[in-house]
Amino acid sequence: MTLKLKKGKALVARDNKVIGTGARVPYYPLVIKRGHGSIIEDVDGNEFIDFLASAGATNTGHCHPKVVKAIQDQAAELIHYTPAYMYNEPMIKLAEELVKITPGKFKKKVMFGMSGSDSNDGMIKIARAYTGRSKIISFVGAYHGSTYGSISLSALSLNMRRKIGPLLPDIYHINYPDCYRCSCGKKVASCNLECLDELKQKFTTYLPPEEVAAIIMEPIAGDGGIIIPPEKYTKALYALCKEHGILFAVDEVQQGFGRTGKWFAIENFGVDPDIMVLGKSIASGMPLSAVVAREEIIESVGPPAHLFTTIGNPVCCQAALATIDVIREEGLVEASKEKGEYLKAKFMKLKKKYPLIGDVRGLGLNLGIDLVKDPKTKERYQVACAKICYRCWEKGLLLTFFANNVLRVQPPLVITKEELDRAMVIIEEAIQEFLNGDIPDEVLETAKGW
Ligand SMILES: Cc1ncc(COP(=O)(O)O)c(C=O)c1O
Repeated sequence: MTLKLKKGKALVARDNKVIGTGARVPYYPLVIKRGHGSIIEDVDGNEFIDFLASAGATNTGHCHPKVVKAIQDQAAELIHYTPAYMYNEPMIKLAEELVKITPGKFKKKVMFGMSGSDSNDGMIKIARAYTGRSKIISFVGAYHGSTYGSISLSALSLNMRRKIGPLLPDIYHINYPDCYRCSCGKKVASCNLECLDELKQKFTTYLPPEEVAAIIMEPIAGDGGIIIPPEKYTKALYALCKEHGILFAVDEVQQGFGRTGKWFAIENFGVDPDIMVLGKSIASGMPLSAVVAREEIIESVGPPAHLFTTIGNPVCCQAALATIDVIREEGLVEASKEKGEYLKAKFMKLKKKYPLIGDVRGLGLNLGIDLVKDPKTKERYQVACAKICYRCWEKGLLLTFFANNVLRVQPPLVITKEELDRAMVIIEEAIQEFLNGDIPDEVLETAKGW
């Protein structure tokens, strides 16, 4: 397929003149005009199967008719009146739903935001206020967002941190439990959670656990490359938190709302977090996020500690209520699990054929395909990722990568098996063309990625 790119190229040139480069991770010059289900159309009329779902923000698919109607109906009635001073019913209804669908049979409350980033800041505020402690622990490789608080929690890109400091004080990072590239050099069969010793050592040498307010974890590391911790690790970490009066917080911004084959990713690991941060797919792409936490934790801050003029926007809240209905009515949580297994089996077949694929990881429609120069050394193969993603785009598939060398497979949960099959044909062709040396180096000037 040869892409027509006339209008798109002209628009990208205009964009480059007026949009700051810090606000985009570039892959290819795709200017999107419309989307339906799992299909995206660009301004030149080219169509693509979407394996990115707007960075995991459109689990219900693009422009789901129910979500569109909810937005249109609410926009005709009231676009916004700030809940910072007044009340609105869609926000109340949504909070009632969120406390019901999130794990934990304790009393919970909600504070809304507009992005995953600001809700991670909310998490820091309530954890510090509730415990009276200042220290927060997060993970190397984590991405929690782009406000000062969430950048301080994140640790995966120097560009995010360069030149803008000082960041928030008292944030510490530990290694994420990564069984493919174990930081302790262990094999899964002989693992005794040696990786948790790093934290225990900190607790006995320079990081007093009684000063730690919270540990914030992505239940599955997303931008770190879809890394799934062993269940026993998450359980042991949770127990360690409880032992020291530390709150256990999870960032479900990317992995929530059915992505992993459960409503929330932490449900795969059998612990109920004290605080949850939600975003992205919560409102099918409308700007909305939330902190959901034990009532007494949320109530530890008073007004106006965490309010923004446009929080709890009724249009966004109606979109979120419709999103939850769609996930329920169309069985998207189960669909994610089933289609995820279907797709994973296909990638496992490719792995047998191509040593370039070092690892295939994931739960639900949420896969990380780890490309390596050599399966023994597991050296990350960034160039392969960039070239293959670029060629997939040229062939009609939106595929991106993160963690330098991991193909990101997160299509809308409504994607059909036929679309998955077509996408897999494209991916295999792109791999073969890469291995044959048919993808020119010049694409690397565009396909930079994470
Ligand atoms: C795990 C996680 N947390 C937080 C964020 C930040 O969310 P937002 O970009 O909506 O601020 C992201 C975004 O990619 C994310 O993946």
